[in-house]
Amino acid sequence: MTVEEREVLRSFAVRRVRPEEWRSLRELRLEALRDPIAHLAYLETIEAALERPDSFWQDRTRTAASGTAAGQFVAVDERGDLAGTATALVTAPGEPDYIGETGPQLRAAVVGVYVQPGHRGGGVLQAILSETEAWLRGIGVPQVRLHVNEQNLRAQGAYRKCGYVDTGVRVEMVDGVNHEMVRDLRSA
Ligand SMILES: CC(C)(COP(=O)(O)OP(=O)(O)OC[C@H]1O[C@@H](n2cnc3c(N)ncnc32)[C@H](O)[C@@H]1OP(=O)(O)O)[C@@H](O)C(=O)NCCC(=O)NCCS
Repeated sequence: MTVEEREVLRSFAVRRVRPEEWRSLRELRLEALRDPIAHLAYLETIEAALERPDSFWQDRTRTAASGTAAGQFVAVDERGDLAGTATALVTAPGEPDYIGETGPQLRAAVVGVYVQPGHRGGGVLQAILSETEAWLRGIGVPQVRLHVNEQNLRAQGAYRKCGYVDTGVRVEMVDGVNHEMVRDLRSA
């Protein structure tokens, strides 16, 4: 890649997903699940994802595109390609969240984080998380958390740079031990 090409690829816009782009989001998800460290990053396998019918991707994209249960955000580069994504899952007080825990307040978890290899190290993640957090703040969520595998050091470093703090809580998940990291949205 030339310097000029890198400059072009650094230019991107972040926005919430649209229902009609479910095919592109399916492709991006499949690409993420083929990443060499996918086994440390996602709770789903490529085999399971390939089995899912179109209706699954359509429903998931529709839910992530509107309403307050989930918000998926994407970075779109100048060619219109999806450079990365993150999804916030919102849980009402008293309801079990994506790992089955309950809590007294409205809360959210960031999941499904992926940045395409050609865009890594270029601020894409920071821009996506910042947009995701602005959306969460707007619907009254005071704190956001995420889980990152203990062996996924790059992701841990990336989240730290984005203001996430390791709480010291360790959660055993299907991919192994995960670190809980949080970001307070009231002071951010
Ligand atoms: C995780 C991911 C979203 C991060 O985005 P990114 O653009 O690569 O992140 P950045 O390069 O901005 O930040 C990573 C930081 O960790 C550091 N880092 C990289 N490898 C590291 C390692 N082995 N140990 C410690 N730190 C490391 C980098 O140096 C960088 O910090 P710096 O900018 O201060 O040098 C992206 O790499 C990705 O999609 N990975 C595959 C899927 C994945 O792991 N998703 C997250 C699941 S929780």
